Amino acid sequence: MSDQRPAISALQVEQRTFPPPAGFAEGAVAADPGVYERAAADPEAWWAEQARALEWSTPWHTVCDRSDPPFFKWFVGGALNASANCLDRHLATRGERVAYHWEGEPGERVAITYRDLHERVCRLANGLKSLGVGRGGRVAIYMGMVPELAVAMLACARIGAAHTVVFGGFSAESLRDRVNDFAATVLITQDEGWRNGRTVPLKQNADAALEGAPGVAACVVVRRTHGEVGWTPGRDHDYADLVAAQDPACPPEPMDAEDMLYVLYTSGTTGKPKGIVHTTGGYLTAVAATHRMVFDLREDDVYWCAADIGWVTGHSYIVYGPLANGCTSVMYEGAPSTPGKDRLWAIAARYGVSILYTAPTAIRMFMKWGPEHPAAHDLSRIRLLGSVGEPINPEAWMWYREHIGGGRTPVVDTWWQTETGAIMVSPLPALSTTKPGSASRAMPGVSVEIVDEAGHPVGDDQGGYLVITEPWPSMLRTLLGDDERYVATYWSRFPGRYLAGDGARRDRDGDLWLLGRIDDVMNVSGHRLSTIEIESALVDHPTVAEAAVVGRADPTTGQAIAAFVTLRAGVAGDEALIGELRDHVAKKIGPIAKPASIVLTDDLPKTRSGKIMRRLLRDISEERHLGDVTTLANAEVVAEIAEMAQAQRSAEG
Ligand code: WTA
Repeated sequence: MSDQRPAISALQVEQRTFPPPAGFAEGAVAADPGVYERAAADPEAWWAEQARALEWSTPWHTVCDRSDPPFFKWFVGGALNASANCLDRHLATRGERVAYHWEGEPGERVAITYRDLHERVCRLANGLKSLGVGRGGRVAIYMGMVPELAVAMLACARIGAAHTVVFGGFSAESLRDRVNDFAATVLITQDEGWRNGRTVPLKQNADAALEGAPGVAACVVVRRTHGEVGWTPGRDHDYADLVAAQDPACPPEPMDAEDMLYVLYTSGTTGKPKGIVHTTGGYLTAVAATHRMVFDLREDDVYWCAADIGWVTGHSYIVYGPLANGCTSVMYEGAPSTPGKDRLWAIAARYGVSILYTAPTAIRMFMKWGPEHPAAHDLSRIRLLGSVGEPINPEAWMWYREHIGGGRTPVVDTWWQTETGAIMVSPLPALSTTKPGSASRAMPGVSVEIVDEAGHPVGDDQGGYLVITEPWPSMLRTLLGDDERYVATYWSRFPGRYLAGDGARRDRDGDLWLLGRIDDVMNVSGHRLSTIEIESALVDHPTVAEAAVVGRADPTTGQAIAAFVTLRAGVAGDEALIGELRDHVAKKIGPIAKPASIVLTDDLPKTRSGKIMRRLLRDISEERHLGDVTTLANAEVVAEIAEMAQAQRSAEG
């Protein structure tokens, strides 16, 4: 233990525990508690065992090459094809099984079997070849949640081309920058998408982007809405025409385990997005293994990851993991409130969803809308719930378990990142006694530590920096075209260890509690406080649906805590309630954490992947000029919040 001041003070105390439900362990994928020790005793042997669940055309000779850290290589010498592992491998045993129950926002329903998906992928793969894309090629994909998006990714993988998927909610400019950085020669898009009953002008954005992307020679367009779109003859190709002309068979290209499978851009703290590079063998191994184990995947499960494929969660747990495991998934195109706030529950009931995986931001939105929406549908088939993307507030966890899981199901809070490729920290549902708000422990074969400023492990219940101490198969290999930034961002703060950028603490039982991004930590009277614990104390109050806290400069305490709170449906906020909320936090976790100010707002500023943008709230609190807000999902709330914060300041004089 170090004698330094804790890197982050940990205040929250959560006492509730939930052992696996009776009978859950029977037939479970991971039912042997010895699994952790066995993996820890020889992590490479553990991962090799997971890799053997895939089909390799050439076996590897070295599990992990550590000769040039942090440029690690996995399953060196091995060859495989990701699309063959996701499709061909299943045809003999489960060709007629549904891979995706797809539902369009306006209501269309399509069941796509593994055999259908295989043929669609082969046709598009041949279509891409006809456009000059082959082994080593680069394809950008800019689409909504239509089946052709998954088809496009797998078609690239089949012929050995790398893909980059750009989230369909991004602007023409973001698309242009990513397409250029990736050096894509082909863009696959669609005429328009559906979102909230409105159309999203994907092709129009693509046209604008391509004006500044001269390297793109061909643009393939799926007709989804059949709306009018611009057309550049010679460059643009109608998807349906392109695939209709192709052979329905296309042999998969045997790829080196370390060949690039895809790049996914994530926004860094400074301007230029980072192109996270994932390769083939290690990535597929880890996403398939974690998907089986964390979700306890069984033969009759209907699995639904309600994320967008444009984020890593969709890459790993809608496309590659579930398909590698031959499982049946649900895929939904549109917004959760269209046509009504019960849309997700109507879908879950219709397909008999048994496993649901979503984000805290969505769960808090469901809380805000009220439990009557899920209650209107039969969700009795649900047996397991998952959460990802942000720390989950204990009350949101409880609400999820109670109102979606019928008070019966385990909830697995899964911590990972675009960079990690696969889930790194999570309960295993048949083994772990879960605690609301805790992500439990590192997955078998993964080793994490919590360290202080000096890199020394911290003691129980002390906050610090989360690091990963050993390479893992699905780790990012580098940032596209920028090895230096890769090393500087992740490996230089604590040499030899991967810096995740998140704070965490480990409790006396060995369970991990994620504390949010290090950049968001506040310093109040010399105490380094994490955002999540104070936010969770606010969400613990029965009137609150969502909360964000930030530190704003204060002449006496260094920083003072400024809170922004969204109330549950039907609750009216006033001064008395604000006072009550401040006291509630003080009572729950101590006077040091009592917010200096609370602004009640209808919504919080969020990134398009649903994460709260605390940086903007800091700018508002410190009356700084607000920079670019166009990357927000809900830019309009910012001006509103700024106005209210201003009004509050003048009221306080
Ligand atoms: C946060 C999403 C707490 C964290 C898969 C991480 C979480 C960042 C959790 C990565 C969780 C994700 N508990 N925080 N269960 N899951 N995060 O790249 O800050 O979109 O570093 O990957 O989300 O976000 P990304």
